[in-house]
Amino acid sequence: MADCTDLAFRLVAREHGMELAFLEMVSAHSLLRRNAKTLDMMKTVPEDRPLGAQLLGSDPAMMGEAAAMAEEMGFDLIDLNFGCPAPKVVRPGSGAALLRKPDLAEAIFRSVVRCVRRVPVTLKTRTGFDDPSGREALELARRAQDCGLAAVTVHGRTRAQRYAGHADWEAIGRVKRAVSIPVIGNGSVMRGPDAAALAAASGCDGVMLGRGSLGNPWLFKAAAAALDAEAPAEPPSFEERRRVLLRHMDLEFRFETERRALLNMRRIACWYFAGLPKVAAFRSAACVATTPARMRALIEGF
Ligand SMILES: Cc1cc2nc3c(=O)[nH]c(=O)nc-3n(C[C@H](O)[C@H](O)[C@H](O)COP(=O)(O)O)c2cc1C
Repeated sequence: MADCTDLAFRLVAREHGMELAFLEMVSAHSLLRRNAKTLDMMKTVPEDRPLGAQLLGSDPAMMGEAAAMAEEMGFDLIDLNFGCPAPKVVRPGSGAALLRKPDLAEAIFRSVVRCVRRVPVTLKTRTGFDDPSGREALELARRAQDCGLAAVTVHGRTRAQRYAGHADWEAIGRVKRAVSIPVIGNGSVMRGPDAAALAAASGCDGVMLGRGSLGNPWLFKAAAAALDAEAPAEPPSFEERRRVLLRHMDLEFRFETERRALLNMRRIACWYFAGLPKVAAFRSAACVATTPARMRALIEGF
């Protein structure tokens, strides 16, 4: 997730049972130009595996070239983002706009599959652009399968819905039943049992977590336990939440510039403390913290 699932986030999530991660989306165009910010967003370490790179774009040749470059950089999977709803992405025809252009989508699939030699290519999309039935996702998933893609993740909302309302897990099921490649279900998994409910409603082969995992890395094990029909672990104590938040903070300061890490920590700390009393006062103080020591003191004093 853009601006959320950076290297520090992924390492904390892996320590809590996350099995596979994708980088936040990067534009194929920026990657090919070796844009410094884009390359920084793709930084990783050996223990951050398995890891997929996710590409955004609408030009088949450019997407193919960028995918080959990402493969060369050592990513384990190449994922194509056909789901981003942002106007600045959709207007030039990328992201969710491709739900309405199946022929262009197919040309991108063919180009990327031709250019990538060793690793699987996967698709991430939504149920539809405006149409909530799942028909548009189903069309893309069929074409993806025919072109040799290895799996498709379906976020159970349309582009029109953006991130609002509950994801439609039945619509994910309609895609699942139409293809034989694995379908990963995504959307509205906020607690462990939601993962099992998504799997039951859709028949999906795997579950991808989204916003529910922000500040809640315990969700990975809770979801896995629910999927395996095992008893859930005890929820983390406040002290445990704070300990893991401090670990997340240490990793932010290790891998990001001090300025960037401080900005990130304002959001990250509030994720971990969400719902607790006094979080509003904490947020105000964190927003004016200008040193790592001050940020640490605020968290330790919460
Ligand atoms: C801030 C934010 C950034 C996101 N960035 C990406 C992204 O880069 N690539 C992607 O495939 N999905 C991205 N998503 C979508 C999520 O991966 C997920 O599909 C969506 O939030 C639905 O799941 P949820 O209801 O569990 O949050 C983003 C979502 C949010 C809220």
